[in-house]
Amino acid sequence: MQAVNIGLLGLGTVGCGTVDLLTRSAQEIERRAGRRVIVKRASVRDLNKPRTCTIDGAALTEDPYAVIRDPEISVVVELMGGLEPTRTLVLEAIAEGKHVVTANKALIAEHGNEIFQAARDRGVIVAFEAAVGGGIPVIKAIRESLAGNHIQWLAGIINGTTNFILTEMRDRGMDFSDALAEAQALGYAEADPTFDVEGVDAAHKLTILAAIAFGIPLQFDRVYTEGIGAIGYEDIEYAAELGYAIKHLGIAQRTESGVELRVHPTLIPRKGLLASVDGVMNAVLIHGDAAGDMLFYGAGAGAMPTASAVVADLVDVVRVLSADPEHRVPYLGFQDHAISHTEIVPMESVEAAYYLRLQVEDHPGVMADITRILAEHAISIEAILQKPSQSPGQAELPVILLTHVVREGRLDEALKQIAQLVSVSKQITRIRLHAFQ
Ligand code: NAP
Ligand code: HSE
Repeated sequence: MQAVNIGLLGLGTVGCGTVDLLTRSAQEIERRAGRRVIVKRASVRDLNKPRTCTIDGAALTEDPYAVIRDPEISVVVELMGGLEPTRTLVLEAIAEGKHVVTANKALIAEHGNEIFQAARDRGVIVAFEAAVGGGIPVIKAIRESLAGNHIQWLAGIINGTTNFILTEMRDRGMDFSDALAEAQALGYAEADPTFDVEGVDAAHKLTILAAIAFGIPLQFDRVYTEGIGAIGYEDIEYAAELGYAIKHLGIAQRTESGVELRVHPTLIPRKGLLASVDGVMNAVLIHGDAAGDMLFYGAGAGAMPTASAVVADLVDVVRVLSADPEHRVPYLGFQDHAISHTEIVPMESVEAAYYLRLQVEDHPGVMADITRILAEHAISIEAILQKPSQSPGQAELPVILLTHVVREGRLDEALKQIAQLVSVSKQITRIRLHAFQ
């Protein structure tokens, strides 16, 4: 069979990983796909930049249109990242009749609805396994292998950089910025690392997971998003004393009032499976009504794990190159006419237990004031940890509270009143707690 020519947009961490994997596993890939896969062209921003992979100099260009308009190229692999010019290039590639493979979760989460419509109209494939969970085949698992399940919820550690930072802070006492710098040096972080630390990258991934799990449109702007910036080393220690780990989770859950979509730091039981997912590793826990709880675990970022997912998509595309578009797996796993517009639950209606860290003045009556306000809002306390003064004359002491499950809106009202107490510092750290194992 004739070889399939592909073109790459981007030859950075993932682009070079993909070239290396296509080279080193060429025979195995041909055995699986039925045809040889050849990188015919690759575009970069700067031709003079040193590359970690070897590619024929003549194949390199600074003009991405030379890739997407090359008539001999059937599949465009977008590994540039970002929203523009990527969106324009991908739409142009689709208009040219090219199939597209991408690792770009921002692009799919924010422009996926438009891109899938364009691809549907043109009868081409858009594959995006590498967009979530690096090397973990979680998109395919949800979209195809769990097709017999009504998925009720999923919760995942879906950003390798933040998990790496939290692990380094806990295990090596590393400073936040040093841990971030190491994640960047290892190729885990986004071009703009605030996407990682502020939870935007995880929100992009959660948008995609929720769409394929529940058959809802991609709606990134409805995801409640909190990063890890407010978590101090002391929170990790206090949580551990209480039997919990702090992980940055993406949570999507069906409830009677709609779908919850949220990304935030979360206390989870230390003995559970998710709590032991450390470093750059990712894991997604999924609850299906038939299969029960399932954990998908693996490297969430890095050149080779991500290339593994890119190449798997390429093999899929090559296999169906001659298949009828009507009989391909739908982009979001559900038939296009069956996508439902379920309500998204506002954050104030979400229910969770909470870890609260307050700084209080050390004098009688302070705790009574705090517990009175909580009681007035019908919020009951599961545990209290009051830390002794670390140094003589220390004006404020940390108090840690774990609450029972409460509606977030009610907790917000109580915290607003507590923050107004003269003996309590306005800065209250609040982390949601869930018993996901
Ligand atoms: P990267 O190392 O920064 O590489 C980006 C590549 O795209 C570079 O070759 C760059 O050219 C080229 N490029 C960027 N902007 C361009 C522009 N405006 N015009 C032309 N070329 C441009 O990024 P990466 O880490 O490989 O990530 C690529 C994609 O994969 C992103 O969507 C990212 O979110 C996703 N992803 C990354 C990982 C990971 O572990 N890194 C994992 C999963 C998914 P130069 O080299 O000349 O600068
Ligand atoms: N920056 C992302 C992360 C890359 O750290 O998880 C993988 O999507």
